[in-house]
Amino acid sequence: MEDATQRSAKWKETDIRALFDEEGGTVDSRIYTDQDLYDLEMERLFGRSWLFLAHESQFKKTGDYFATYMGDDPVIVVRQQDGSIKAFLNQCRHRGMRICRNDGGNARAFTCPYHGWAYDIGGNLVNVPMEKEAYGAVDKRKWSATAVPRVEHHKGLIFGNWDVNAPSLADYLGEARFYMDAMLDRAEGGTEMIGGVIKWVVPCNWKLAAEQFCSDMYHVFITHASGFIAMAPPEAPAGGPGPVQEGLQFRASWGGHGSGLFIGAGGFEQMAMTAGVETAEYWCIDSAPEAERRLGRSRGREMNGAHMTVFPSLSFLAGTNAVRVWHPRGPNEIEIWAFTLVDAAAPDNVKEQVRLSGQRGFGPSGIFEQDDGENWVEVQRVLQGHQARKTRFNVQMGLGKGGIDDARFPGRLGYVYSENAARGFYAHWLRMMTEPNWSTLGPTQVKHAAE
Ligand code: FES
Ligand SMILES: [Fe+2]
Repeated sequence: MEDATQRSAKWKETDIRALFDEEGGTVDSRIYTDQDLYDLEMERLFGRSWLFLAHESQFKKTGDYFATYMGDDPVIVVRQQDGSIKAFLNQCRHRGMRICRNDGGNARAFTCPYHGWAYDIGGNLVNVPMEKEAYGAVDKRKWSATAVPRVEHHKGLIFGNWDVNAPSLADYLGEARFYMDAMLDRAEGGTEMIGGVIKWVVPCNWKLAAEQFCSDMYHVFITHASGFIAMAPPEAPAGGPGPVQEGLQFRASWGGHGSGLFIGAGGFEQMAMTAGVETAEYWCIDSAPEAERRLGRSRGREMNGAHMTVFPSLSFLAGTNAVRVWHPRGPNEIEIWAFTLVDAAAPDNVKEQVRLSGQRGFGPSGIFEQDDGENWVEVQRVLQGHQARKTRFNVQMGLGKGGIDDARFPGRLGYVYSENAARGFYAHWLRMMTEPNWSTLGPTQVKHAAE
């Protein structure tokens, strides 16, 4: 691979390496605002990572499609005749127009609205208007839409990768699969997506949001204090629930993924408050025996309140099942795409309550979403300041405190209030931004700094 840092006038490799200091626990705030770094991210990070595309339940029939993005590239994801899923760039090979301008649906072909070149559901060019008269002939095999070369699945989630040399999705996700499955594999039949995709724009860098879902349980009882108080039942103690103490944070040994969770009692009350009583009964009581059989006791019954980011831009909250992708739109903006997943086997009233409570908490005007967005937007606004952009931020929580051994949970573990996973997120970001190929970047070549 060509060394992209050679082409950036501003960012030499040594300068990029100085942006994050893992041992000291500091990060240079220019990573949230700099256009050249953003351009490198699109090439080196979004161009080489496995990116969430869609959920399998969106594709029931041949020709069912969903238009989404990989980084800032538009792509179309389509179910093929043989049942497989393909993805290709949503860009006409004639003059670059978007081939498909719908959000999703069912199609037999995609006809470009500019001059009418038509592509079949596999992205193959199949018709050129006036071909004989105007061209003589077009070698259509050479002008197919640009395919996403790798598409792989994990328990209903479909991911794509532009890089043919990237590790398999299973290797890329690694230990993160264990934590993902706490949402994806609780019941026979897996999950389905309900209620469509809700999209909105927030003026902040994508990493502020992705890092928070990766690592930050710390903000919950401060940022969301008023929301918890407002949602608490009348008999709850004044002042709302204090911070829960028992829990773990997961930092992937490789890959930048992270999660945090509470363990033990309190899960039902917390879930009933935020996701509704019927949801809490389904999750903590009705479906818990099966979840325990499938996932083990600690994952099936005891962990709760889990947040997670699958590097770089897929995040979710297990239980609330608010799933979102942070589609970057330049260094200063994201488009949030929010999905709701439910156990396919859950009763309809529970599915409906998950959908509604997801909207109430984490929809575009959701009580918790507003709290989080306010923080990210304000950080981004402050970073417009010349002096503010020169500061380094502190990611030292948990540094030097040593890891936690807990045989029930894989990965590098720390206390639930920690920034271990944030450091893992930025360490992986740095490696993706500086290492030119997979011979040094792959899952087996990572050296760990001390916790
Ligand atoms: S740009 Fe698509 S047919 Fe011309
Ligand atoms: Fe939050």
